[in-house]
Amino acid sequence: MIDWDRLMEEAKTAREMTYTPYSHFPVGAALLGASGKIYRGINIENASYPLTICAERVALFSAYSMGERGFLALAIVTNAPTFSSPCGACRQVLVELAPGMPILLANLAGERMLTDSSSLLPFPFTPESLLGQPGSD
Ligand code: THU
Repeated sequence: MIDWDRLMEEAKTAREMTYTPYSHFPVGAALLGASGKIYRGINIENASYPLTICAERVALFSAYSMGERGFLALAIVTNAPTFSSPCGACRQVLVELAPGMPILLANLAGERMLTDSSSLLPFPFTPESLLGQPGSD
């Protein structure tokens, strides 16, 4: 049973730590690992705009770098008028590292929507897509 309220609170706390001087669009994420640990993620922007990284990938990469290998749930919080959804790049990373993982999209007004990483990216390019190609092991 996922404690979504706890995960949302973590994402809200994370959202206060973003580096978003250009977009002024702070995003907070909180990822629940199979170990029970929660990993926060924030968007971090850069004066060289495309180098910006999203909150979702920061949470996933942080967890992965700490040795976490199973991912149970992700909460994403913004202050958008309606909850906002992960960008295409994050969906690609999410579906590979955490296929089928439930994702709660929420805003500060308390609106919420539950989805999952696989629904967000139909017909994905996956590790299996590479099998049988010249040069693949
Ligand atoms: N952003 C995220 O952190 N996650 C998303 O899924 C969508 C966009 C960030 C990137 C940038 O810092 C700001 O939101 C506006 O695009």
